[in-house]
Amino acid sequence: MEQQKLMSLLSDMSLDEKTGELFQIPSYFFNNDMVTGPAVEMGITPEELRVCGSCLSVIGARKLRDIQKAHIQRHPHHIPMLFMADIINGYRTVFPIPLAQSCTFDPALAEKCASIAASEAAAAGLHVTFSPMADLVRDARWGRVMESAGEDPYLSGLMAAAMVRGYQGEDNDLSKKGALAACLKHFAGYGAPEGGRDYNTVELSERTLTEDYLPAYQKAIDAGCALVMTSFNTLNRIPSTANRHLMREILRDKMLFDGVLISDWCAVSELIPHGIAADEKEAAALALNAGVDIDMASPVYLKNLKGMVKQKLIDERLIDEAVLRILTLKNRLGLFENPYKDGSEEDENKLLLCTAHRQQARDCAEKSFVLLKNEDGFLPLNREKESVAFIGPFADNLLLSGSWSFFGDDKDCVTLKEGVTRSYPEAAAFFAQGCPTVNPGTEVLGFQKVPPKEDFDLQDALDTAIQLARKADRVILALGEHRDYSGEGASRTHITLPSCQLELFHKICEVNPNVGVILFNGRPLDICEIAQRAKAILEAWLPGVEGGNALARVLYGDASPSGRLSMSFPRCVGQVPIYYNHMSTGRPFSGDYRTTRYNSKYLDAPNEPLYPFGYGLTYTDFAYSKLCLDSDVLHPDDGICASVEVTNTGTRPGTETVQLYLHDVSASVTRPVRELKGFCKVSLKPGESRRVSFRITEEMLRFYDIHMNYVSEPGQFEVFIGPDSASGSKGVFTLVQSDT
Ligand code: BGC
Repeated sequence: MEQQKLMSLLSDMSLDEKTGELFQIPSYFFNNDMVTGPAVEMGITPEELRVCGSCLSVIGARKLRDIQKAHIQRHPHHIPMLFMADIINGYRTVFPIPLAQSCTFDPALAEKCASIAASEAAAAGLHVTFSPMADLVRDARWGRVMESAGEDPYLSGLMAAAMVRGYQGEDNDLSKKGALAACLKHFAGYGAPEGGRDYNTVELSERTLTEDYLPAYQKAIDAGCALVMTSFNTLNRIPSTANRHLMREILRDKMLFDGVLISDWCAVSELIPHGIAADEKEAAALALNAGVDIDMASPVYLKNLKGMVKQKLIDERLIDEAVLRILTLKNRLGLFENPYKDGSEEDENKLLLCTAHRQQARDCAEKSFVLLKNEDGFLPLNREKESVAFIGPFADNLLLSGSWSFFGDDKDCVTLKEGVTRSYPEAAAFFAQGCPTVNPGTEVLGFQKVPPKEDFDLQDALDTAIQLARKADRVILALGEHRDYSGEGASRTHITLPSCQLELFHKICEVNPNVGVILFNGRPLDICEIAQRAKAILEAWLPGVEGGNALARVLYGDASPSGRLSMSFPRCVGQVPIYYNHMSTGRPFSGDYRTTRYNSKYLDAPNEPLYPFGYGLTYTDFAYSKLCLDSDVLHPDDGICASVEVTNTGTRPGTETVQLYLHDVSASVTRPVRELKGFCKVSLKPGESRRVSFRITEEMLRFYDIHMNYVSEPGQFEVFIGPDSASGSKGVFTLVQSDT
């Protein structure tokens, strides 16, 4: 439809229709034209339902076709509804959680996964996904780190932009088959709640917000992301959903976002408990003035805006502006011509969980595993020579999908046991659960008790596991966090494994010292106890439907782990927030406790994390040598080339993620000790060497100076090229003033 026609449609719409367009109704609020569930208490009328603009969390080509058909018929202007849902790490083919995907350091891979997710969800009739989440995170207590790409703005931005491209397609033509409109979230700063407690207060200085937190969102916007979601939190005392400065001046004017802005779930009505709106009217006015177009799941806009326009408390032009943005999105999706978009039962049958999609899920899982420790080449296992006891609550566990995989089916997941026995039927592999996932009687999510199963005898389970461990050459312990321990509303003050699992670990180590651990979890954990005693640790995250197959291949060496941590692993929760790109202090700690007491350190733990950002091993070793800068002077119009020779010094082929970090030695404001500015994956055969080069440009040296101008400042810079954020070869260069 041409813009002109959209404008005339808008001018023809009644105020009821327009306020209806701004309301997003959850699917369980209605059944045909019957209002049900909480919508009854909200007093939503069938007339209001008739003009509702969008619906969330409903899926299935046939169902959506029926809803859409009835809706268009009933709507006075036959305007189709938008169907939105959280397609976070896949639709039916569930991929590894986003945090794991970011550990691949492979945005193109994440793009492919997003594009598959989009094709499946579009076949199921959906138009919009509430993804990507580009919230920067530095605190493993926050359960939603599992949805993020970790602690680095550069990597987070690359991953977010890649996902947008995957969902929306290269050319951002949303009407194309298989495209979903992407919704970037949660704007802004949702990943920095105080104490790591979900929904809690966020305080970020203008500089920290602008320099560390906004860039990843910006990358997704630059990639053409069609929607943005507001965050639940306050940012510097103002809830985002009511923050006019943030939404209009920063998001729209500076970051040039021109799509639809949607609130998070009930975030408009939550302005009342936030204490900045006395009632729903005030909440509606604040959010609309801030430029929030869609009120998700709360009836605040629907029930109040109309009357407020009539009483001249709200300018109707604000409503028109929001409606026009929503109609424009519907138009971009081609819904006026084809309100069902790609919904097709035939395509659902063809695409959902098809072999090619499963293969992609396996590939992504294999590349997301991070080998944290591998003493004496404990891994890979030798299936010809050794018997292996696979023990632990994740040895045969279907809950591998992460907490945002509503549309996947746990039964589709391949467990570790299935993966091993199907891929290597000849291997001497034995399995036992050993203990439950959570301590017996523990509450998961505050409402779901996990009682010890009646037929589950704890002592018996432990004894069986110990017997098995005694007899085996090696033990692989499959430990981790129940999947509901991470995700929304799943913050934790202790980020260790449950005591029943630690007890199992120690008991097994006593009878067989050859223990390797695989971890299944949605956040960095405090695993110091494990790291001291285990011979190997493989971080598998929540790996999705193909988890077991991917793990089998990696454990038995048909694939090598190549993932790198996108988030530091603390030694203990007292170090949190912990991230590699922190500022220097005036009293940096040398590492020697005897020199002086008065420097920046803890008395009872090192400053460094257990495993730093960027870290990860594989089955071979790499050596870095001959760092070389082609000039030690960088002219702004030119740039310099930094390169290093990387050699595979081991006996197996392997893939190395070579990382480039920079440090501004002296500037008008303090600068991070290191910042990731580039990386490159190289696959080398044993004995093979390759020179890996990075171009360093003046643009990469820019930051917000003392006056908040985005500039570079002449002076000395350090460059590090290495395997992670804590090591590498170092060079130095000087940025000189531009000649012009
Ligand atoms: C979450 C969002 C999600 C929305 C809709 C909220 O609780 O914060 O990330 O997109 O629900 O399901």
